[in-house]
Amino acid sequence: SKEDDEYTKNDDNDMLTNLPKEKGWRTEHLYQYKSFWLSLGALKGVKRTQQCFKAQPTDILLATSPKSGTTWFKALIYAIMNRDRFDDISSHPLLTKGPHDRVPFLEAIIQNEVSYNDYRTSSSPLFATHIPYSLLPTSVKSFGCKIVYVFRDPKDVLVSNWNFMTKLRSKDLPSFPIEDAFDLFCKGVSHYGPFWDHVSDYWKASLENPDRVLFLTYEDMKKNPNVCVTKLAKFLDKSFCDGEEDQVQEIIKLCSFDNLRNLEVNQTGVQHFSSQFAIENRHFFRKGEVGDWRNHLTVEMAQQLDQITKQKLGGTGFNC
Ligand code: A3P
Repeated sequence: SKEDDEYTKNDDNDMLTNLPKEKGWRTEHLYQYKSFWLSLGALKGVKRTQQCFKAQPTDILLATSPKSGTTWFKALIYAIMNRDRFDDISSHPLLTKGPHDRVPFLEAIIQNEVSYNDYRTSSSPLFATHIPYSLLPTSVKSFGCKIVYVFRDPKDVLVSNWNFMTKLRSKDLPSFPIEDAFDLFCKGVSHYGPFWDHVSDYWKASLENPDRVLFLTYEDMKKNPNVCVTKLAKFLDKSFCDGEEDQVQEIIKLCSFDNLRNLEVNQTGVQHFSSQFAIENRHFFRKGEVGDWRNHLTVEMAQQLDQITKQKLGGTGFNC
């Protein structure tokens, strides 16, 4: 594919030849690097991030597996952190800029002509990442920047991922039935997968360092946005006081699926993640529901996924 060609032209050829390779979802291949499956672009992003990103204690990092609600939580965290600056919601930046424009991915910044410090103009710089915990730059762990991790039911993650990748998949590649996606996902072969290893490493980190790593779920945010936004704000040292309940409601409404999806910027805008990689904003807003897997997976597939979740995460006290 085009992306594969771009990167193999560059300097990382040698490293690639020795990595296990599997069928890719969007591009031709995924490569296994230190037990995680990455596209070439992601692999390059992870390595450069490890080399160049120096975390500061005031940095805030949103970490997710792809399709777990990154876009939504980018908006929520941005709105919470900047709540003093935008009293008047009608002029809020999220009404004219996409969440991905406001909170960049660490592994994408490094592929542009800017440095991380260009993003450190505000007092609490916000970044997002899909990088697994074990592959984060050491400074993220030692400097104690805060990490918010978002978990989503893997059945919905798989379905969301498959829909997304099918839309973006190169037209030169063969079609990609959901059964193939299911088999690969179960084997751990998905972008930044195995999904369950991604989750369990951040889950363990949140148990070891609850002040530094907050573990939230997509489903809880849907069910109890008040409680979750309040908890998130407290973790980010932006607690809401008595009498600020309206602000909590405003943020929930501003970041809601229906509100964000219908904005002009998210219907027609394009996010340029790097010079080689752009995605139309509308692709980040599909259904925004819990349980859409029922429309795509068989009961047997769902049972198999639940079984893997139980097997891989059951012993860790994980109960989402
Ligand atoms: P679906 O494909 O199930 O609809 P990510 O941002 O990590 O790429 O995840 C995308 C998923 O989050 C998509 O799920 C998308 O519709 C959903 N999503 C995006 N914005 C949302 C919002 N404001 N509220 C709830 N879900 C949202």
